[in-house]
This record gives sequence, C-alpha cells and structure tokens, in this order.
Amino acid sequence: MKIAVFKETREGEKRVALTPQVVKQLVGKGYEIFIESGAGEQSAFQDSDYKNSGATIISSAEELCKVASVFLKINAFNDREISLLPENSICFSLMYHLINPEYVQKMSDRKVSCFSMDAIPRISRAQSMDVLSSQGNLAGYKAVILGAEHMTKIFPLMMTAAGTITPSKVLIFGVGVAGLQAIATAKRLGAIVEATDVRAETKEQAESLGAKFITVKDDGVKVEGGYAKEVTSEYLAKQKEAVNKSLFQADLVITTAQVMGKKAPVLITADQVNQMKYGSVIVDMAVEQGGNCELSELNKIVIKNGVKIVGIGNLPSTLATNASELYAKNIQNLIQHLSDKDGFKWDMEEEITKGTLIVHKGQILK
Ligand code: NAI
Repeated sequence: MKIAVFKETREGEKRVALTPQVVKQLVGKGYEIFIESGAGEQSAFQDSDYKNSGATIISSAEELCKVASVFLKINAFNDREISLLPENSICFSLMYHLINPEYVQKMSDRKVSCFSMDAIPRISRAQSMDVLSSQGNLAGYKAVILGAEHMTKIFPLMMTAAGTITPSKVLIFGVGVAGLQAIATAKRLGAIVEATDVRAETKEQAESLGAKFITVKDDGVKVEGGYAKEVTSEYLAKQKEAVNKSLFQADLVITTAQVMGKKAPVLITADQVNQMKYGSVIVDMAVEQGGNCELSELNKIVIKNGVKIVGIGNLPSTLATNASELYAKNIQNLIQHLSDKDGFKWDMEEEITKGTLIVHKGQILK
C-alpha cells in the first residue's frame, strides 16, 4: 500500500501527519511511504530524517498524487488537493463532518473514501487512535502556559525575605481531556485550582488532581456517548450563580467547554467580565467553536476593563513536535487497525470503521 503525506497548507499550521519514527514502523510493516518535501520542517523533522526512516521524498502535491492511493493530512484537504486526488483514493484527516457538510459533499463528488480523525469512537480499544484526546491533552497544558505568559503574577506561594507572595487562583470550565490536563499543569505550577463541568462524574476526576469542584445543582443535563449535550438557559443561570464568586476572584480562567457538533456554550458574559479582577486573564480554548466567553475573538487578545481575553486557535500546533508525534501514532494505529500492507479490510460493521468512515467511494455515509 502506498501512503502519501501532504505538507499542511492551513495558515499557522505547523504539524505534520506522520513523523520519521512512525514512518520507520510502517515501512517495517511493508507499507510504502511518500512525503511531500518540507512537510515536517515546522515540526522540526527534516526531509533527511524521513529519508533515513525509509520514506521517499516527493517534490510537490501533484507528484504525490501520481504515486500513492492513500493520503494523510491533519487538516481538511484544500480545493487544489481535492482536484488532484485520484478517484477511489483513501483520505485521512480531521473533517468535523457534522459542521462541514459542504466539505463532505466535495469529497463525495471527487469519488474518494474519507476517514475522519475527529470521529474516532470514545471507547477503550480506540484510545490509542483518539486524536481529540491526544491533541486536547497538549492544548490543555499549553493553555496554562499561555495564561502564565499573560499574567502579571506567579502561580505558587513564595515566601521571600521581602514578603510572602500568595498563590494564584485558577478556575477551569470543562473537565474533559483538555480541562484535566489544565488542572494538572496549574497544580504542578503551584496554583489554587477550581473547576466545574456539567457532567457529574468529572467531580471525582477533578478532585483526584487536587482541584476543588464547583457543583451546579441541576438535574436537567443530558450526557450522550460520554459527551455533554447542550444545556438549558436555566442551567447556565444556575452555573453563573455557582461560579461567580470564584470567577471574580480568579487570576486565570481557562475555558474548555464544547458540545460535539455545535457552537460552544457562552459561559462568561461581558457583564461577568466587567466584574472580574483587573489584571486577570481568560484563555478561551473554545474560541474556534465560537468561544466560551462572549468577548473572545479568534487569534486576538481582547482587553476589557483590565481583563485580558486570550483567544488563540489551534493550540496543539504551537507544540508541533509533540502534537505531530501523537497524531502520527494515532493515525498509525488506525491504519494498522483498518488495513495491512496489501490493502483495506472494509469491515463496514466494525465499530471504529463505522464511526470514522464518513465517505465511502463517493457515497456519503453520515
Ligand atoms: P469536549 O472537548 O467535548 O468538552 C470539554 C468539556 O466541557 C467536557 O467535559 C464537557 O462535559 C464540558 N462542558 C460542555 N458543556 C459545558 C457547560 N455548559 N459548562 C461546563 N462544562 C461543559 O470533551 P472531551 O475532552 O473531548 O471529552 C468528552 C467525553 O469523552 C468525556 O466523557 C471523556 O471522559 C470521554 N473520553 C473517552 C475516551 C475513551 O474512552 N476513549 C477518550 C477521551 C474522552
């Protein structure tokens, strides 16, 4: 099987879908790998590293499409790449198919098959393929580091000859994969951490990492397949009541709340920002899905009443080496699950295939 890796073209994207280490393992299993020249450069992987791992370096996307039948990317394929893809080829990338029906249609029109890396089922045996988790984990770490950079305070308690510095207070909305890593990172740096989530089971998880959990008393929250569903306006009102005291005292607030396939819920209004401490920082990790803070703007830092609202998108790309390593491992595990060196199994009833295969030979499956 001939697998090709495109160089990412999305603005600001530094990651790459395969790393030299994973190339070596796939080559060892009999797969042939082709890499577009320079694809790994921004993740600190050079063409020579890929070559030494057994890949062939190809000069352009056009040439890549002439030699392979399986194509790997991180972000969705762009229009030019789609026009170059051979009919019946097999594509792997993030698709976010629920919110991008036009993209799904384009891939269907091109008569290819597409596996979506963001649609891996949240089941134990698929954990090693779970891109949302691997990238969310790194993003949660980076959100705390980003917050620290914008704060004018340190995290830990520090007793010095000149006096005692009290620890910073960090509040985290959403205790999923990113939120848990944010709690762990802020705790390691010495902050006092509080967290809240709509899913009751996250209380124990947050507490096990040393955070205080803020419970919102409401029975109306629905959870499906491990994901929170949209909450009611009554819930959001009760949440405000429960968190406002902590929010107005926080030095750093990190918001991670998302609802699968929907716009992110607004958890911090402009009015709440007005009541926050002068000099405090909000890092809105949901900014690409519309933002958890009403005032967030994508790839901007908004300052309102002395509160800095940091809305940097694509945080995993800022840690491109590690993010690529984990993405490459995820995709390797999925490919080896779905195929061997001679081809794909196309077991359409199998749960991981069913979850991730969005388009099959031009036919839209979901
Ligand atoms: P996510 O990125 O979709 O959302 C982040 C967090 O925000 C979630 O914990 C969610 O409950 C919370 N949230 C949503 N609306 C909220 C609101 N209005 N207020 C406060 N919090 C809100 O979540 P993620 O990290 O992708 O995890 C989703 C689920 O999948 C979790 O149950 C997680 O444990 C599970 N999971 C299972 C895996 C497996 O078994 N293979 C792997 C990874 C996650």
